Amino acid sequence: MIDIQNLTKKVQPNQTILDNISFRVKKGELVIVKGVSGSGKTTLLSILATLDKPTSGKVLINNQAVHKLPDLHLSLFRAQHIGFVAQHFNLIEHLSVYDNLLIAKGALTNSIKEAKSDITKALKQANILHKKDAIVKNLSGGEKQRTAIARALVNCADILLFDEPTAALDSKNSQTFLELLQNLHKMQKTIIVATHDPIFDTLKAKTFIMQDGKLYE
Ligand SMILES: Nc1ncnc2c1ncn2[C@@H]1O[C@H](COP(=O)(O)OP(=O)(O)O)[C@@H](O)[C@H]1O
Ligand SMILES: [Mg+2]
Repeated sequence: MIDIQNLTKKVQPNQTILDNISFRVKKGELVIVKGVSGSGKTTLLSILATLDKPTSGKVLINNQAVHKLPDLHLSLFRAQHIGFVAQHFNLIEHLSVYDNLLIAKGALTNSIKEAKSDITKALKQANILHKKDAIVKNLSGGEKQRTAIARALVNCADILLFDEPTAALDSKNSQTFLELLQNLHKMQKTIIVATHDPIFDTLKAKTFIMQDGKLYE
């Protein structure tokens, strides 16, 4: 499902963030990428999310060579296949939970009826349906995260990427997140979590470590 071959990312002035990384993730797999701050986790996730391009190497997602796709095709590919939950969630703060999902849904449907049913389903799956009319800026950190997760689910993406998902959560909400993550895993989603939180050590998952631009299994 995800096949990364000899991925290298360099930035100015002459810094190698990702150094010739290769790995595969199968459909339905739950993968944890660990590593200290600055080790390149966010850079790797951004490339997998097709938001950033590698300097060299191949990124194959669902047999599609996304590193070669032009931006117009990439937008559609991303909307259909990738759910990205960024570290700070990137929600539109002055809109409601529902409207944040509607914007994400709007790109892929002309039917308001279909949109409503998919939004309700995603809010239910992320356990945030009871807050659908709340304005995002009035939500707690955990609720904002569940809204971002619902938005990642609303177009039925098969790949979910999480960047430091517990960084802004207290221990109770972190535990709730772990349970939600396991439910998403049961739904056969392909999941990659970048984190430096030891709470994920308790999880049964394939684990990689990022260090000095390299990825070790
Ligand atoms: N576009 C960029 N330009 C310059 N340096 C960058 C850029 N993106 C990331 N970096 C640097 O690359 C390193 C890895 O960053 P990042 O991927 O955010 O690591 P992590 O998420 O593991 O903390 C850091 O030293 C960061 O400052
Ligand atoms: Mg990061």
